[in-house]
Amino acid sequence: MSLPEPRDPAQPYRVCLVCLGNICRSPMAEQVVRTELERAGLDGAVRVDSAGTGSWHIGSPMDDRAASTLRIHGYLTDHVARRFDPEWFADRDLVLAMDADNQADLVRVAPAGDRDRIRLFLSFAADGGPHAEVPDPYYGGDDGFTTVLNMIEGASKGLVSEIAQTLRRR
Ligand code: 4NP
Repeated sequence: MSLPEPRDPAQPYRVCLVCLGNICRSPMAEQVVRTELERAGLDGAVRVDSAGTGSWHIGSPMDDRAASTLRIHGYLTDHVARRFDPEWFADRDLVLAMDADNQADLVRVAPAGDRDRIRLFLSFAADGGPHAEVPDPYYGGDDGFTTVLNMIEGASKGLVSEIAQTLRRR
């Protein structure tokens, strides 16, 4: 499935990554996607941020296990957790959910015309498929975070290559 067209081709393409708490999966994905965009020379052309569908962790830094997993693999870890605000649909080109529950929560609050801007993040992984989900690592052990990072890295490469193609067509 091709990416949604940019809302405003004169502005950076905006991608928001969404999980439940915005302290584990989506902030990890935000850092990895940002790094992948820099590698592709697209960091000026694309803006990435993240949020959670829940409000429990608003204002918190990343989960310690998420941060240490990122750090070990050379990524930055700056983060302040936020809750997704449905008004953000007005200026995000693409809203990527980590799992099917996050996706359903987003679809429920999205303006009807913006529902096709919501996709599963892992659908961009080469081995992902349209229904693939990033599992919630919060209640598991440290190795769950490494598994999640591997999944995120695969999806980020696919996503950035799709975005590069979309922007090239402009
Ligand atoms: P995340 O993980 O959605 O990947 O940030 C979670 C973080 C916190 C909770 C659930 C999932 N929680 O229930 O507090």
